[in-house]
Amino acid sequence: MIYSEKVMEHFANPRNVGEIPDADGVGEVGNAKCGDIMKMYLKIDNGIITDVKFKTFGCGAAVATSSMATELIKGKPVEDALKLTNKAVVEALDGLPTVKLHCSVLAEQAIKAALSDYYRKQGVDPEPIVGAVPDVETACGI
Ligand code: FES
Repeated sequence: MIYSEKVMEHFANPRNVGEIPDADGVGEVGNAKCGDIMKMYLKIDNGIITDVKFKTFGCGAAVATSSMATELIKGKPVEDALKLTNKAVVEALDGLPTVKLHCSVLAEQAIKAALSDYYRKQGVDPEPIVGAVPDVETACGI
């Protein structure tokens, strides 16, 4: 299996690993089949994602895609994070082997789950804005 240099670099030095104790939104998604779990924390101020951290019991591709995904949304408006797709994350990493593409979905879904949590805490129904976040079984897209 061939990984791009960017994937290897983000796997070796993942950005934004950790947790945010007073996060405004927390999302957790996982895949029952591979057992990988992703937890995403967002700090949101005036509609801007001022901080983001993630923790994962995931494979290398899940670590690299989450690292890149957090870099792509940090400092950006919530609207940008809502539009982030796993495809954009994979492109930013110069691609992933096809069999590992499902791993990148974990990061996208964890961000969506964290945004849903954020809206719920604001008293806003997240589903019209964020859409349905797949449950744990389907989050990995297998
Ligand atoms: Fe499940 Fe990579 S194998 S996230």
